[in-house]
Amino acid sequence: MNLFQKAVQPTKQQQQQQRLIRTISPPRSPRRKFEQGYILFASPVPPVSPSIFTRNRLVVGTIVVALSTTAFFGSNTFAQQQQNTMSSKLVPTNPSDVMVIRDLTPRVVTLSVPFLRFGKFPVGGRGTLVQLTSGAIAVFSPVALTPEVSAKVQSLGGNVQYIIAPDIEHHIFVSDWAKAYPSAKLIGPEGLPEKRQAAKDEKVGKEPFAVVFKAATKRETSIGADFDADFEVEYVDGHASKEIVLFYKPDKVLIEADFLFNLPATEQYSRVPDADKPKVGFLAKTFMGAQSVGKGQQRLMWHVISRENRASFNESVKRISGWDFNYLIPCHGDVLEGAAAKEAFNAVFEWHLQK
Ligand SMILES: [Fe+2]
Repeated sequence: MNLFQKAVQPTKQQQQQQRLIRTISPPRSPRRKFEQGYILFASPVPPVSPSIFTRNRLVVGTIVVALSTTAFFGSNTFAQQQQNTMSSKLVPTNPSDVMVIRDLTPRVVTLSVPFLRFGKFPVGGRGTLVQLTSGAIAVFSPVALTPEVSAKVQSLGGNVQYIIAPDIEHHIFVSDWAKAYPSAKLIGPEGLPEKRQAAKDEKVGKEPFAVVFKAATKRETSIGADFDADFEVEYVDGHASKEIVLFYKPDKVLIEADFLFNLPATEQYSRVPDADKPKVGFLAKTFMGAQSVGKGQQRLMWHVISRENRASFNESVKRISGWDFNYLIPCHGDVLEGAAAKEAFNAVFEWHLQK
């Protein structure tokens, strides 16, 4: 039994809840509504009909959905709040002191840093450097360009040609990198250039994007001849954050941003002194519990994140699952290596793979 199977093995309490959900009648009282919402989101049940989300039946469920939705892609208010605080509260002020620079393979380097979602939830952040077989360097979800990161880029040849914002959220440091490597192409999903144009954050510049992924043309989009030769790319337009998921074929590495979380963010906080680590209260635990590899995230992806265009989302999941990856690099939480990478992916997206 692997760790995930162990994690999702129903407890006695959950088995009782499963029995209860089979016998529960349509809600008639606030207490019954509460029970039904709790059961839906706390017990291991298969995908339920969307009709169960209607009316006032899900008290706790609604709270979880609201939290999860804002956590992933946010309302305008949240997005604005994040824009206003992104430079001061979300990223560390001393990145050189806390960043973990790790050679995952000789050509793939991870740059792991603390990151507080909404300034509260310690989900960590991670950029990735890849040296293509052409020698050019691509950076994904750029993080702070510290002297140590610049030295690492130089050690890989220094030829940064591609700066990729793999969704509409992971773009805070794009301008810093674009200034340092002005010949590099900027790549991102539809909606991001407009978002950056409208942003009032001083870190967010107005640089033009060379490649923008769009739903209608996603399979015909070329990033560059050498890039296309090394990578498979899937633009998950069915995802609320417009994820671009990339597979570096030479080293069998899957790189993604918010497509799959693997909290807790152990490596990303490993250099933060214990006294400085953020306190994880009830709200943070609830939020982060739905973003580790387990049933919480499975439900979140099915019921919330993919609900706008689940057919397209399912198609993307199936294509990605077909890639032969041995590493999964998320932006939030620890890197998954070996068989655990594919196992975790297929477990979280099990319902999408079945459709
Ligand atoms: Fe993210």
